[in-house]
Amino acid sequence: MSFDRIARHYEWIESVVFGADLQRIRCSHMETFLRAESILLLGDGDGRFLKALLDSRCSAKIICVDSSQRMLKLAESLTKDSGQNIHFVFSKIQDYHLPPCFIPDVIGAHFFLDCFSEDEILVILGRISSWCKKQTKLIVSDFSIPEEQSLGRFIAKVLVWKMIIFFRIFTGISARKLPKIGKLLSKMRYKCLKKVTLRDGFLCSWIWQL
Ligand SMILES: C[S@@+](CC[C@H](N)C(=O)[O-])C[C@H]1O[C@@H](n2cnc3c(N)ncnc32)[C@H](O)[C@@H]1O
Repeated sequence: MSFDRIARHYEWIESVVFGADLQRIRCSHMETFLRAESILLLGDGDGRFLKALLDSRCSAKIICVDSSQRMLKLAESLTKDSGQNIHFVFSKIQDYHLPPCFIPDVIGAHFFLDCFSEDEILVILGRISSWCKKQTKLIVSDFSIPEEQSLGRFIAKVLVWKMIIFFRIFTGISARKLPKIGKLLSKMRYKCLKKVTLRDGFLCSWIWQL
């Protein structure tokens, strides 16, 4: 899987389909990020969330791990004027070893877990759990198909189907359907502390803790 091919186009494609709503949902738990002294961002992409974090005067130590060189380059250039020491790491999360001295207060995963199959997510969550201390918050933003039969549910299903086909063709993601992220986190014994939604539940951001 590589997001290199679409890295430069990611932002405009997102804004055509979702306007500003994805960025709104990524930033919906900003106050939790701002209380952290150390933050680990997983598959954070082109750096727009990171820039918003820095613009909100975040002074935490930050590590960003992404398996796309081009995404990391974009994130680096978008945030280079912040003067903050951000550690950008080119690695698959499955192969990454967090430095033992870095214990994250918050781990952020925005629209990252939906790239994987449910079996892969369980493996990734196992790794994430090993990086968590007692108070570590895991903030996950992602799509979720609304439960209620409605036009919104139908539109969400069609959009998800189109997105999965698009990302499978252009990036090679392994997900064939939208993973039930909430269920998987609960299965791994995470407790949901807070949930924010947009577009009738289609866009979600949760705070989880072990
Ligand atoms: C769908 S994009 C999401 C980007 C951004 N977080 C957002 O909110 O839009 C998925 C990101 O995860 C990265 N990624 C995919 N597989 C990965 C892996 N195994 N390890 C680390 N990063 C990965 C991609 O390079 C890409 O930047």
